[in-house]
Amino acid sequence: MAKRKKYRLKLDIFLYIAVIIIIIIFVKKIIKIYKDYQYHKTTEYKLITVGYTKKDIKLLSRFYNEKELLELTKNKKDITLLNFMSNEFYLHKNLAEYLEYYDLNSNKNIVDIIKTVNIHRNHEYYEEPIATDLNQNYAMLVNKYYFLSNDYEPDDLTVISTKYSWGSSGSQRVRQDAYDAYIAMHQAALSEKDIYLMVNSSYRNYANQERVYNNYKNTHGEAYADNVAARPGFSEHQTGLAIDLLQPGYSLENFHESGAYLWLLDNSYRFGFILRYPEDKVDITGYEYESWHFRYVGVEVATK
Ligand code: DAL
Ligand code: ZN
Repeated sequence: MAKRKKYRLKLDIFLYIAVIIIIIIFVKKIIKIYKDYQYHKTTEYKLITVGYTKKDIKLLSRFYNEKELLELTKNKKDITLLNFMSNEFYLHKNLAEYLEYYDLNSNKNIVDIIKTVNIHRNHEYYEEPIATDLNQNYAMLVNKYYFLSNDYEPDDLTVISTKYSWGSSGSQRVRQDAYDAYIAMHQAALSEKDIYLMVNSSYRNYANQERVYNNYKNTHGEAYADNVAARPGFSEHQTGLAIDLLQPGYSLENFHESGAYLWLLDNSYRFGFILRYPEDKVDITGYEYESWHFRYVGVEVATK
């Protein structure tokens, strides 16, 4: 009898445990169904169903808010968009322009499209000028897209000694750091190669640039003037960071044949200067080759 009772008790416990296990499994199943149901309502799930991977979604989420992500679920995975966004130079503010430019130039690769739009080259010169960002300091961009206001004048202009420059005393000026860098470059050229560098032109204020530009325009017409001189406000000479260099015995026309020019090509970056209008970049700069025009951008940028 006692044995039977014991057996009965064991069976009860077993059933009891089995019921509990079944309940647990059932509750877990219900929770899973509920979670799946909730997950299917999420934007992530909807994006996955149109083809995006979790990695793609992470990338998209860096630039898009919830509402914009939801918009994407209406179409199949947009590979072009992902290609743009994964590029190191991608700027989200430019997306509409990338896509517009891409539509018109589908033969170009994504990197070219991004670089072109980022530097505004998808526009005509002077078409939509942008005030340059003065906070960029020595790296500030001044070209046919980015301008300086007519009253911009650097506050640290320094007179270039007539030992290193042509023109009357006090007439040639550049910003202090550009001057120090130029002196170091002058001395290095002299000691390393016995080359004597001279500054032919340096800081020009807005009014001076206007005179230079108008002079070309009045004598040769606008198209010619635009190839050789910047319109007022668009000249690097107004930054106080540009210098036109020459070597005694050479002129602008043949400076590219001088030892000074060859030395500068290899060495100017060491002092923070770059050749700004090279022969093979005319279609980008919009200026004829200027072997003499060097711009101070600081050693780090120049080295890059
Ligand atoms: N000659 C250069 C482009 C200037 O006028 O600034
Ligand atoms: Zn110049």
